[in-house]
Amino acid sequence: MTWVFVSHCLILLLLSAAISSAEEQVHIKRSDFPHGFHFGASTSAYQIEGAVLEDGKGLSNWDVYCRIKGNIADGTNGDIANDHYHRYMEDIEIIHSLGLTAYRFSISWSRVLPRGRLGGVNQAGINFYNTIIDNLLLRGIQPFVTIFHDEYPQELEDRFSGWLSPVMQEEFLHFAETCFKHFADRVKYWMTMNEPSLFAEMAYERAMFPLARCSPPFGRCASGNSDVEPLIAVHNMLLAHGKAAKLYREQYRSKVKGVIGITVCAYMYTPLRDVEDDREAANRALAFNVGWTLDPLVLGDYPPEMRRYHGSKLPSFSSEERELLRDSIDFMGINHYGKLYAKDCIHSSCICNDSNYNLGSDRLIRGFVFTTGERNGVTIGEPTGTSQFFVVPRGMEDIVNYMKERYHNKPMFVTENGYCSPGNEDDIYQHDVKRVRYHQSYLASLAQAVRNGADVRGYFIWSLMDNFEWSSGYSLKFGIYRIDPQTLNRIPKLSATWYKDFLSNSSHGGVDLSSTVPDGSKDVSRLHS
Ligand code: NOJ
Repeated sequence: MTWVFVSHCLILLLLSAAISSAEEQVHIKRSDFPHGFHFGASTSAYQIEGAVLEDGKGLSNWDVYCRIKGNIADGTNGDIANDHYHRYMEDIEIIHSLGLTAYRFSISWSRVLPRGRLGGVNQAGINFYNTIIDNLLLRGIQPFVTIFHDEYPQELEDRFSGWLSPVMQEEFLHFAETCFKHFADRVKYWMTMNEPSLFAEMAYERAMFPLARCSPPFGRCASGNSDVEPLIAVHNMLLAHGKAAKLYREQYRSKVKGVIGITVCAYMYTPLRDVEDDREAANRALAFNVGWTLDPLVLGDYPPEMRRYHGSKLPSFSSEERELLRDSIDFMGINHYGKLYAKDCIHSSCICNDSNYNLGSDRLIRGFVFTTGERNGVTIGEPTGTSQFFVVPRGMEDIVNYMKERYHNKPMFVTENGYCSPGNEDDIYQHDVKRVRYHQSYLASLAQAVRNGADVRGYFIWSLMDNFEWSSGYSLKFGIYRIDPQTLNRIPKLSATWYKDFLSNSSHGGVDLSSTVPDGSKDVSRLHS
């Protein structure tokens, strides 16, 4: 006990010393946010659960993809991952001890429906998530559940090529219905999907996620069409969302006055050069990323910026489908990590071979936009362990303002925001001062957006713990807890101690907002009282 107390004090001393020596100090307090604002952390099933084929779970797209040599940078997979399937109680205790009011996680499709609609429901999978939900609620923590977070039964991949087939709409509806049936009596916050357009880009354009389809210049794959398939996949995902949201609202919402939304990958963009072409390119980048998913789900159709260039190649919605999709979300989930420069590739030439992510920037599927974190040799913000993420706190306020304006201030949750450590800094000392500064400065930027009237209702750190970062394996670390590779023990980093301290410096917390989300969407005044 004494040791724990002393080490806690030492960590806090270390933290304040490190932060006070920083050139720029950010003062941010929990009380800078409205009463009832949720503070949480995020994870996803494949990235943490492990237990690959245990208790009736079926093979998933990632289980198979990881087995192919060369697909994962460090040759690893999620077979064991953080062993959350067996250590979930310890993880829930951690969440509780931090003082989080919410926890965002996803349901593994292949654990609940190992063969999709073809087979039955795996009761052990249902039991697992029931236990998690019950134990979170018992501790006053709201579960925020993502239904599809990049993982589904391999059988759906083998039979339909995943989201390329409209059959997936029905498969997803069945999965969503299974989740609602078993969990919607207690879960109030649902996200149908995580980052649909980014998933489509990775799976069907850049071949960095399963099914790994692509065509030149994006790569040399056995099959695929990078210019067209992402459009088809997103189209199917949007319609799948629409069907599931309709079902939820008609049959399940009333049980606990729940809400349903979707999460998008939301970089912010700013012009590379002070010219009109680049200003337009930055707007295009936003429309081709955020707007691709959210315009249909809020406004009822694809962004005019996309329609203008794609013309009839962009799939179209029938009038019934437009009705199904329009206003089909109660809130927007924002995954925001950084801000990038945008350069026009319609009137200017773009060199698109400097990094994997810039391949194909001069093509329509990328909106003819070249994005980069560098201008005249100077980076837009401090680089991190991921080449596309730079520390630009102002990006948070900017993206929230953009979404506030474009979508009439629909309620928002920052469902992911996190810092990827460069190198193995976290492994040596767990002394992740940079991560602490990152969260402080992004929270300060978010608080500014809220003060300016944005209806943001919660903030989730990605991630509760280091985990399997998709094609990068375990080499990239975003967690506020470290996982010891030998013992899989959870070890708090400085950032965990900081988050706990930040959250306890206030007398309010954990107030349930769910009942106000759908109806109070226009009422932002209450946030500023
Ligand atoms: C977004 C994704 O939702 C998550 O799965 C991923 O690990 C983080 N960003 C970090 O890249």
